Amino acid sequence: MKYFCVIGEPIEHSLSPVMHNAVFKKHKLECKYLAFRVKKEELENAVRGLKALGFKGFNVTIPHKEKIIEYIDELSKEARLIKAVNTVKIDKKLIGYNTDGIGAVKSLKSLGEVKDKKIIILGAGGAARAIAFSLALEKTREIIIANRTLEKAKKLAKEVEEKTGVKTHACSIDKKVLKEKIKESEILINCTSVGMYPDINSTLVEKDMLKSDLVVMDIVYNPLETRLLKEAKKAGAKIINGVEMLVYQGAEALKIWGVEPDIELMRQAVLKELKQ
Ligand code: ATR
Repeated sequence: MKYFCVIGEPIEHSLSPVMHNAVFKKHKLECKYLAFRVKKEELENAVRGLKALGFKGFNVTIPHKEKIIEYIDELSKEARLIKAVNTVKIDKKLIGYNTDGIGAVKSLKSLGEVKDKKIIILGAGGAARAIAFSLALEKTREIIIANRTLEKAKKLAKEVEEKTGVKTHACSIDKKVLKEKIKESEILINCTSVGMYPDINSTLVEKDMLKSDLVVMDIVYNPLETRLLKEAKKAGAKIINGVEMLVYQGAEALKIWGVEPDIELMRQAVLKELKQ
């Protein structure tokens, strides 16, 4: 039996076990995926333990994605740029990857190209960082990072541009500014928690900022259709909900562990769990 798991705190609501075990079961693989709550001060011990127990790989979630780097032997290009790891492969050595951003890129690619596109990202936290770097590695034309705290957006934009060469600017989330910036963009991604349950009526984007030739993605998956996505749909835009990024980041993790993913099965497993 091959063992995999996710470590984090809190971990109770992680959708990863259901998503991965669905693949293992359907395809009759001798694999099992578990979830462990690991406190910050126990991270190093937990990692040593997983290695000693012969786990083949694991996912890392809040609050360990950055700290874990100290215990990893080798980092992928994305993980090095993003400075965070969400997937580890154990193969004598520990190899750290970040599949969050590539998960978002793959979701977007299911609707069309990202190369040469102008993209506006709302937020400058961990999720925005992973997505901005992964998009830049795909040679997008331009990235705009809009954030409530402008300084954070500026810092991230500067780093993305310096390290990838992709033109990246920062702006505030002031309505007038956002309207102008969205008008120039082809893809809009909400990487903030705005719109998440229980504040389901919040959005950073006014209806009149949306247009039909926009792809709108929200990383929030509770609710599945956020106010932003509902309004984008009404405006005739193409929408992608937060489950897609979750499923695609999981699919990339499976590939890293040598398991063939099954996107539709994973999506259905996650949707079923969310409905319960
Ligand atoms: P994550 O790792 O999930 O990205 P995070 O690092 O806490 O989470 O980042 C949350 C993002 O949502 C930040 O960009 C935050 O803006 P600030 O940098 O100004 O804090 C943004 N955010 C959260 N609540 C918000 C709100 N009510 N209005 C606008 N932006 C908000």
